[in-house]
Amino acid sequence: MSDLSGRVALVTGAAVGIGRGIALRLAEQGADVAILDLDEDAAAATVAEIEAYGRRAARVAADVADRAAFAAAHAEAVAALGGVDILVNNAGILRIAALLEMESEDWRRQFAVNVDGVLHGAQVVAPDMLARGRGSIVNMASWVGKSAMVDYGGYGATKAAVISLTRTLAMELGSGGVRVNAICPGTIVETRMRDAADQENARRGVPSAAERCAALPLGRPGLPDDIAKLAGFLASDDSAYMTGQAINVTGGLWMT
Ligand SMILES: NC(=O)c1ccc[n+]([C@@H]2O[C@H](COP(=O)([O-])OP(=O)(O)OC[C@H]3O[C@@H](n4cnc5c(N)ncnc54)[C@H](O)[C@@H]3O)[C@@H](O)[C@H]2O)c1
Repeated sequence: MSDLSGRVALVTGAAVGIGRGIALRLAEQGADVAILDLDEDAAAATVAEIEAYGRRAARVAADVADRAAFAAAHAEAVAALGGVDILVNNAGILRIAALLEMESEDWRRQFAVNVDGVLHGAQVVAPDMLARGRGSIVNMASWVGKSAMVDYGGYGATKAAVISLTRTLAMELGSGGVRVNAICPGTIVETRMRDAADQENARRGVPSAAERCAALPLGRPGLPDDIAKLAGFLASDDSAYMTGQAINVTGGLWMT
């Protein structure tokens, strides 16, 4: 397991789901972890779990779509734990709809959280990383950002944008010692987003995630910990020569 002792991480959307899994993994690897989330109660439970690893933890509340709120939350996290070495831009939302039926409000909110949120994270946190000459940023994309899926067109467009932002940020920040990579998960269960998607898919007559994943090369859906293990590697010096990558963790669902 890559050692993150003495490092401080800020993970967005870490109250539940994949972000929670990442926060716990980073703590297990030795990092102190700040959780930035809208859901303060669930975030408090994750903070307690991190502290159970013997790590320091902080909970800061903000909407990642609001840059000023993100900046204020970052300042709070730095005051509590010190300068951020690892930023995981994980917060994201999903609005399932065919493109011709997509409501403007849903389209805009998905972009505000999934794309603006990632840009805000970089704009708020990277300057301090550059000042210290080191840092790792991990952005949460999706396999749909490389491919396409009926009713996931808006979401897929946001995740394609996350991959593009990741590559340009890698070019802009690399010489300053800051690496930027993206993770492209496949179908990950035990998250709120997945439970909501399964409910909506059932309404539309689409099989559940578990049923669809039985046909994958690895024959099962992913778990938050499957994503967290890669995030822990990308956060650490074990990936020191990797930047600008968008890495699939899909059980073989998507291979390019
Ligand atoms: N679950 C999957 O199958 C899957 C697949 C591919 C990619 N992803 C991506 O992984 C990330 C996490 O997904 P998940 O399934 O764990 O979702 P989730 O809904 O279970 O958790 C999302 C977390 O983000 C927080 N959040 C949402 N909007 C926010 C905002 N505006 N500001 C701050 N916090 C906010 C929520 O409170 C929650 O704690 C997302 O970016 C998602 O697009 C998920």
